[in-house]
Amino acid sequence: MRVREFAWPDYDDVAALWTGTGRDVLSRAELTAKLARDPQLFLVAEVAEAVVGVVLGTYDGRRGMILRLAVAPAHRRGGVATALVAELERRFAALECPRVNLLVLPKDAAALRFWQALGYVPQPDVLCSKPLSG
Ligand SMILES: CC(C)(COP(=O)(O)OP(=O)(O)OC[C@H]1O[C@@H](n2cnc3c(N)ncnc32)[C@H](O)[C@@H]1OP(=O)(O)O)[C@@H](O)C(=O)NCCC(=O)NCCS
Repeated sequence: MRVREFAWPDYDDVAALWTGTGRDVLSRAELTAKLARDPQLFLVAEVAEAVVGVVLGTYDGRRGMILRLAVAPAHRRGGVATALVAELERRFAALECPRVNLLVLPKDAAALRFWQALGYVPQPDVLCSKPLSG
């Protein structure tokens, strides 16, 4: 297994991974904007040249955020997500990012167990959100 930065030929495979896990697919335009800021934080995992995992990190200069982690069902429990997050954490550290946050849906008990296994601790804060468009 190899973890590397996303490249545009990966887009369809990444979109399929997100769709397969019930996530919205970031459009090419959204990803273009993201890649203009911190391309080194958008990673894929590949096995035998097939993309089997993805994670998208962002850094605003104060906090890191981890989004859209997904591993293909046939490759789960083999350490793919752990490897993706470990590489992403190394890259956050290289940016001197002191803390990383992420969101887990309440129904995603398995995902929460994964994050807790990696040392991520649930916080009592309630997410508040407001759309600024439309
Ligand atoms: C959650 C997910 C990313 C884990 O990917 P993975 O490659 O299977 O994870 P790893 O093999 O690196 O797991 C590392 C450890 O996390 C824990 N873990 C992972 N999946 C788990 C599960 N389904 N239930 C309980 N614990 C789990 C285990 O402790 C595991 O170690 P072990 O296999 O030695 O017991 C994957 O199941 C997935 O893509 N799920 C759907 C999308 C999703 O929920 N993404 C996260 C959004 S917040």
